[in-house]
Formats: sequence, structure tokens, C-alpha cells
Amino acid sequence: MRNDLIIGLDIGSSFVRAVIGRQSSDNKLEILSIGKSKTTGYIINGDIVNVNKTSDAISEALKNIASTIEGKNNDYYFSSNISGGHINVNTFSITQARENAISPVSESELISLINSAKKSNLDKNPCILHTLPIGFQVDNLPETLEPLGQIGSKIKADFIVVTADQTKNDILKQCLISAQSEHLKTGNIYYSPLATASSVLNLDEKQLGVALVDIGSGTIEISVYTKNRLRHSKVINWGGDRITEDVQIGLNVSLEHAEVLKNKFGSALSKEIDINEVVLIPGIAGRKPTPISVKNLAIIIEERIKELTAIIMVEISKVTDPLLLKGGIVITGGGAQLPDIADLIQKVTGLESRIGEPMAIASTPQIEAEIKDPSYATAVGLVQVYFEQLNQLEVEEEIVNAPSDSKAGLRNNDSKGPNLKGLLRKTVEVLMGSNEEEENYPDEK
Ligand SMILES: Nc1ncnc2c1ncn2[C@@H]1O[C@H](COP(=O)(O)OP(=O)(O)OP(=O)(O)O)[C@@H](O)[C@H]1O
Ligand SMILES: [Mg+2]
Repeated sequence: MRNDLIIGLDIGSSFVRAVIGRQSSDNKLEILSIGKSKTTGYIINGDIVNVNKTSDAISEALKNIASTIEGKNNDYYFSSNISGGHINVNTFSITQARENAISPVSESELISLINSAKKSNLDKNPCILHTLPIGFQVDNLPETLEPLGQIGSKIKADFIVVTADQTKNDILKQCLISAQSEHLKTGNIYYSPLATASSVLNLDEKQLGVALVDIGSGTIEISVYTKNRLRHSKVINWGGDRITEDVQIGLNVSLEHAEVLKNKFGSALSKEIDINEVVLIPGIAGRKPTPISVKNLAIIIEERIKELTAIIMVEISKVTDPLLLKGGIVITGGGAQLPDIADLIQKVTGLESRIGEPMAIASTPQIEAEIKDPSYATAVGLVQVYFEQLNQLEVEEEIVNAPSDSKAGLRNNDSKGPNLKGLLRKTVEVLMGSNEEEENYPDEK
């Protein structure tokens, strides 16, 4: 069990959501505190357009959760996210001849492959967020994620490379620095859907094939997994706010009323709604309240969700036949709270669909209930993904530190090397990319 406290900081187009998590005694993720602050207008479609206001929103969200951290020593980390249409996710392959065909594939060889892949991609875009191996193949052996120990004359490695616009990445870092919080010193930045996946998808789904759809206010993130590997991911500038705008225009109401109507009375299945059901919205300047047909509201929403469903199917079809996704579609993010959304998506696509709620326990029943909200999927996932990274390091270091007898059979001949501990740390760093080396932020105070 780790004692570190990790702050998950989801910087989204409508809210900054902050959570503090730690590892519980039975190895589960336990959330100790949650808080949020509004970012509407400061972040548009995932892009930060107002640095000062975004920094203020980060500070405010952190203040909301600070009571849990106060008095604790400073062994906490932060884990934040980056998203937006500027993110590119591409596959990349590299093949290398091996120096000695009968020596087993070693960890250092894999690191060298990953570094070569990074180097080749750095020429195209210097801002690499992640270089994730999705398969290695030695000669004609079956593709695997664990080629250590295999022998052969050449090795092929396939990667998913996630890159961002350098300026946008710098702006995000600037906001974190300007938030001037003592809680933001050491941490990582992750591509949002990687974090979200770790809090809502289970292993079986990833193995069977699943599409993860995070419906935010200004973006939709669609990721496709098969055989436990990320195959494709895309951020689209289309979010729940589009549905609100449609309601505003379609029902001739203000944007504020449209948002309330959607969130409180909306549904994705209009057929289920009685034609006589109405809600009254207050009239302006003493005028009479206006009756709004709940069925009409649902008809507008349903059409938008059908459009979204078509977008999801296009993205899935880029990498696989949608009908092969036996793990179906998992919908998360604030937009997943729309009643009947999973039923409609399932009806239209023929793929089993469910809502993805973050998987975590909490220190109080109140927090437990609050984090069941799919809007917290990314924030909780950010804590989870950081823990996975720290745990990976810990396990690797335990192996390195174990008595030499117990190491037999666990590692290839690299384990005898004097610098293995550093090498293992390096493995994690290169896998996660340049951004994922823990960022040390200067204390600006
Ligand atoms: N009950 C509800 N029914 C339908 N939509 C809802 C409901 N509650 C919230 N939403 C929508 O969820 C969206 C906000 O989701 P979320 O908080 O995940 O966004 P975000 O992470 O801030 O934005 P992004 O990920 O796009 O940067 C808004 O469009 C909001 O209208
Ligand atoms: Mg979001």
C-alpha cells in the first residue's frame, strides 16, 4: 500500500474537477475529497483561451479539496489532463535487426526501440505526450506485449503515439504554474481518455473490444480498445453544449433555460414521453410562464444523440468492424447523465451500451455517492493512472532489490546489470513520453 496522496485535476470546458485519492489497504483507489470550479468561457472545446481565469479556477478547485491535504506532509503528486482537437493519436511501427539472434530480447532492447520510435516522431512533432507499445513481434512469432526472453533475428514494434500542439501544452503548464498552489509541485500530464479509461473500463471489455465515449461540454473523446490495447482515439469538437444550443433554438428559450430543461427534463428517447407532458418556464419581465412540451424537448435531444451515434460509428469503423466490439460502448462524462442515452445508442448501433461510472471507493458515503457521477470519470482516472505508474515502478524496484536467488527466472540477463533500477525508471518514463517524466513546477511564491 502506498501512502502517497494524489490529486487528480480534470481541467474541462465547463469545470475543473479535483479529487484527492490514495491507495486503500486492500489495494483499491480511495477518494478522500472532491471539489470543482467553473471554467465556462475560459476553456472552449478543450482549448484554454483565458490563462488567468483558468489558473484561478484551478486554485479554487484545489482550495475546495485542501482541507484534506492540510496538515499532511508533502508527499503528494498531481495528475492533470490535456485534451482538445489539437491532439493527434497515430500508430507507428519500427523494425530493427537484432545484433545476436540467439540472445533473449532484453528490457534495454525494448527501451531502445521505444526511444527510436520517439525520436522518429519527435522530428514530426516535438510535443509527444505518450509512446504506448501495442505489440512486439520477433521474427514470425505471434505478436505480444511481453517479448522479453524471446529469440530471433529481427523485432518489430507497434506503437500508439499521442502528440499535442506545443503551444497549447505550454499554456496548460503555464496555468498550472500560475495557479500558485503548494499542492502543484510534482506531477504528470496525461491525455484525458487514457485516464478516463482506467476509471471506467474493465479488463474484459478492453480484451473483447470496446468503444469509450466521454461526452463533455465542448468535446467528445472517442477511444477504441481491442485485445486490451488502445487502437484509436480522437477528440471531436462536439459536446453536450451543442445539444443545449439546439434546445435553445428549437424551443425558443434562453441558453440558461435550455441547459436546465435538458438536464432536468431531457431524455434521449422521445417515444416514451406522453404528448401532454409540459413544464413551465418563467416569463421575462412579468410576462406569463411559457409551457414547454417535454416530448418536443426529447425529440430535439434524440436527433442530436443519433448524430453523435453516427460519429461514434465512423470512428470505430476506422479501426474495426463495429459488430466485433463485444464489449460494446461505454458512455461517460457529464453528458452521460442524460436519461436513456445508453438505451438509444444501443438501439441505433446494435452494440451493448452502458454508462461508465468511476470505479473507486470513498472515505465517506457522501463522497462515494458524489463520485458515482460520470462527470468525475476523468478526475478519478487521473489518480488511478498515476497510481498504476507509481506501482509499476515499485514492483520493478522490488524485483531489483530482491536477493539475487529470488530474481532467478524473473528477468532476463539485464537484471544483473548494475544500473537496472535506473533503467526501470527509464522504462516508465519512455513509455509515458516526455510529458510524463514527473514535472517539477517551481514554487512561484
Ligand atoms: N443531467 C444531465 N443531462 C444531460 N447532460 C448533462 C447533465 N448534466 C450535465 N450535462 C452536460 O454535461 C456536459 C458537461 O460535462 P463534463 O463536466 O464532463 O464536461 P467537461 O469535462 O467540463 O468538458 P470537456 O470534457 O468537453 O472539456 C455539459 O454539456 C452539461 O450540459
Ligand atoms: Mg471532460
